[in-house]
Amino acid sequence: MSGEMSPIDTAKFVAAKRAAMMVESGMRVGLGTGSTAAWLVKCLGEMVADQGLKIRAVPTSSRTAEQARSVGIEVITLDEAKWLDMTIDGADEFDGDLNLIKGGGGAHLQEKIVATASERMIVIADASKSVQALGAYPLPLEVIPFGRDVTRGLIEEALTGMDVMGRDVSLRMAGDAPFVTDEGNHILDLHLKRIGDARQLSLALNQIPGVVENGLFLDICDTVIVGYGDGRVEMRGLDGADGAERMALDDAGNLFLDPES
Ligand code: 5RP
Repeated sequence: MSGEMSPIDTAKFVAAKRAAMMVESGMRVGLGTGSTAAWLVKCLGEMVADQGLKIRAVPTSSRTAEQARSVGIEVITLDEAKWLDMTIDGADEFDGDLNLIKGGGGAHLQEKIVATASERMIVIADASKSVQALGAYPLPLEVIPFGRDVTRGLIEEALTGMDVMGRDVSLRMAGDAPFVTDEGNHILDLHLKRIGDARQLSLALNQIPGVVENGLFLDICDTVIVGYGDGRVEMRGLDGADGAERMALDDAGNLFLDPES
């Protein structure tokens, strides 16, 4: 299977497939949004069809909900689930402490609510998402449309006192119109280049009226599964268990323990 895919798709697929192996019947599972999460939903759909896996899933976007239903996964609301055994989602960046930037797909509000309501958050990502310091990827802020330009001015003012390397703010567009989230809001992308104090920044941004949520996920993620273009995956945990597990992908798309690890 990997032979037909580009290295980046292989990396996303093996990370997603390894995460899917952690899902057991009876679990309530949060499903992330994005291209890596889409591989996960595909893998879980195959497990539902071929292995009789029985899960109830809470999607983090209308896109993921649609895909999950189309592959036969039972979809419920977060209020029906109340609490989730795990959430598996992609990320735009992760650092050594497993703090994240998310929201490249504009779904970080639901993603943060769902991840926070989960026993564990597992991130699936290709190795390019690993960074020393967060911030090269623009930080998304979901803002309500009412008074958006005034809110933007307040954000720019707040950034002048923050430990960041860049301060440009742009409105995310979808063609000629502002991008609209599932909650009917807009996204401002903050081009910060490097974030010095993510905690202080997150608190300051969320205090501004009109800001609904920022894309920093701090102390939420428990494990990152990193996929590589050659089919290897690596588990990174908060206990510093980098590279503790190495898997490889055979030609049929099956993951197995790599004896060379
Ligand atoms: C969506 C997200 C995604 O998880 C993030 O953008 C990563 O996406 P991809 O797997 O396509 O690289 O946060 O809001």
